[in-house]
Amino acid sequence: PGRADLAGLRVAVSTGGTREPIDPVRFLGNRSSGRQGTELAVAAADRGADVRLVAAHVDDGVLDAAARHPRITLERVSTAAELQRAMTDAAAAADVVAMVAAVADFRVAEVAHEKLRKEDGVAGLDLVENPDIVAGLVAARRDGQIVVGFAAETAADDAELLERGRRKLRRKGVDLLAVNRVDWDAGFESAGNRVVLLDAGGDVVSDTDGTKREVADAIWDAVASRR
Ligand code: C5P
Repeated sequence: PGRADLAGLRVAVSTGGTREPIDPVRFLGNRSSGRQGTELAVAAADRGADVRLVAAHVDDGVLDAAARHPRITLERVSTAAELQRAMTDAAAAADVVAMVAAVADFRVAEVAHEKLRKEDGVAGLDLVENPDIVAGLVAARRDGQIVVGFAAETAADDAELLERGRRKLRRKGVDLLAVNRVDWDAGFESAGNRVVLLDAGGDVVSDTDGTKREVADAIWDAVASRR
């Protein structure tokens, strides 16, 4: 607070987790709470940036500070397809794009319009791959635009974590990749987070073990040093 080192910066952030419908009452989802992405948006806005926050299934309580922030425009989406449309639109007018949302890798090929019933037997789900949204944003990157990706990985130790992160960095082509270790009991619904930030060359820019706000500020520090 007090710093306005991101004044004038236009930022697009996605957060939360997409839901891919199976039938009118069921979906494929994930455990992302949307806290880290929301903190990233609030931190940027507190530091003077103008932020578009695209949220997929984030509780109102988590979004509260962002929804009331004068420099944040909030948009809610549900599926990966909706998230892709919203972020592609937001990215066209952004200096920094951060894809924090957990996007479902697959969706159901044909959504049932009636509730699937147990009496009809085991429902085999035909899945098709969703587009890699951040890869598309990287491909469409404007001159000077910074694209930040996130990678939640399970790993036995730090070496494996960084190895996975570096591989993902190369595959996605992002400028910064925030890598965090997740487990059954770490990373998702929790308040704290440990995040290692890698630059495009795979070097460690920062290693933060703290609140999600502290992690967010470390990421904006790295962005600010690249402006
Ligand atoms: O490959 P993985 O899902 O671990 O990559 C995570 C990063 O890629 C995150 O930044 C996430 O928002 C993004 N992503 C995406 N579209 C997908 C899957 C992931 O943009 N279909």
